[in-house]
Amino acid sequence: MSRSVAGSATAATTGQPRVGVVGLGYVGLPLSLAMHAAGYEVVGVDIDETTVATLSQGHSTISDVADAAVADAVDDGIDFRSDYSALADVDAVSICVPTPLGKSDTPDLSYVIDAVERLASVVPEGCTVILESTVYPGATREIIGDILTDNGMRIGEDIYVAFSPERIDPGNKDYEPTAIPKVLGGVTDACGDHAAAVYEPVFEEVVRVDAATEAELVKLLENTFRAVNIGLINELAQVAHELDVNIWTVIDAAATKPFGFMPFYPGPGLGGHCIPIDPFFLSWKAGQQGIDTPFIELADSVNRGMPGHVVGRVVEGLNTRGTALSNAEILVLGVAYKPDVSDTRESAAIDIIDQLADWEATVHYHDPHVPELDVLETTYESVPLTAERLAAADCVLLVTDHTAFDIAEIVEEASFLFDTRNATSEYDDDTVVRL
Ligand SMILES: NC(=O)c1ccc[n+]([C@@H]2O[C@H](COP(=O)([O-])OP(=O)(O)OC[C@H]3O[C@@H](n4cnc5c(N)ncnc54)[C@H](O)[C@@H]3O)[C@@H](O)[C@H]2O)c1
Repeated sequence: MSRSVAGSATAATTGQPRVGVVGLGYVGLPLSLAMHAAGYEVVGVDIDETTVATLSQGHSTISDVADAAVADAVDDGIDFRSDYSALADVDAVSICVPTPLGKSDTPDLSYVIDAVERLASVVPEGCTVILESTVYPGATREIIGDILTDNGMRIGEDIYVAFSPERIDPGNKDYEPTAIPKVLGGVTDACGDHAAAVYEPVFEEVVRVDAATEAELVKLLENTFRAVNIGLINELAQVAHELDVNIWTVIDAAATKPFGFMPFYPGPGLGGHCIPIDPFFLSWKAGQQGIDTPFIELADSVNRGMPGHVVGRVVEGLNTRGTALSNAEILVLGVAYKPDVSDTRESAAIDIIDQLADWEATVHYHDPHVPELDVLETTYESVPLTAERLAAADCVLLVTDHTAFDIAEIVEEASFLFDTRNATSEYDDDTVVRL
């Protein structure tokens, strides 16, 4: 990053460019550590004082980041604050706040607006502002651009604004965050140049696109592509079940084709902060242009139906064993939305447990990463996983295949195991039923 981007007092003192990260969650914390590792002087800002206090004491707040990584960075000078005044002398700032869906599946950009409004009161001239939060195409220019120019600064001249979608995959140990190519587009060419200069020392590869709008659409394409293909395969899984065909074998065989096919796998339903949500940013924006997005809506409807399909299959399996769901004890294994994370946002397990409880089944769950789970008004606590508990359950329902699970023991003890993830593919046992 060129020192001419901004000449802050602190940076001038230390000789290091000073960068800020706003929002220290699943995206912002790893990014702030990566920026620190790249040699920047980093200040991370979060409005949640508990998060800031925990990080400042050298403890991690997310499962993907080890305490030691935070502690080392704190010892090495990374600064975590709850006050935006710490951003008054930064050369660049990355914004990583939540962008959930609001009522009627419309984008809720209130966190971004709040963050940018707070930033606007302190941001120095010459600063580069990079939005990481997923937004609809055009939002970076419309929202950030508008708020930051309120005080007379000109985009691309006095302040530089870009969008760079976060592409991390929590729980995936195969890719370091900095090894994932970083797509980036500026509101103007100069904005793109400045933002690329900030990220090039951090990421192995920066992929420039021509505009912030393109970068915004890249993110939505990636996640809509996943949501639609998962929807297709979830539909096929239901067809395959009726045909008495093993969908998993079919997918693996199809995936031997060296071109033109990419495997996607069925599951109990979408989860997390991205795949179930991001396509609606696209369909909302398309709707504003008078364009329908039936693929997105169809995939969503199939995917949203999967928890109900799973419950129906559990009922089917219990019936063949002479047990009604209302008299059954169900042990749910894994409630995080994906393996080896503690994140339960939008997890299909919540809907599944809610439906099972609605049928008056007795439901317990075990998840080594999630000690407590709120399902509407009820708070469930993870029960210890013992051979006795596995054997006592009328149905053991594997929703999330954490690597900590001893599948051999689960298969051995369960009298009826319903496996939504094909974790039992190596076991040929008539007590096991796969999605
Ligand atoms: N989690 C993922 O796997 C993932 C992957 C790619 C993209 N994203 C996107 O990245 C964005 C952030 O997601 P996340 O999972 O890190 O969210 P998160 O909820 O884990 O973290 C967001 C943090 O922002 C803080 N915050 C909220 N408002 C703030 C404000 N005004 N100022 C400062 N801090 C504020 C919150 O306290 C929280 O700590 C979202 O747009 C999400 O869609 C997430």
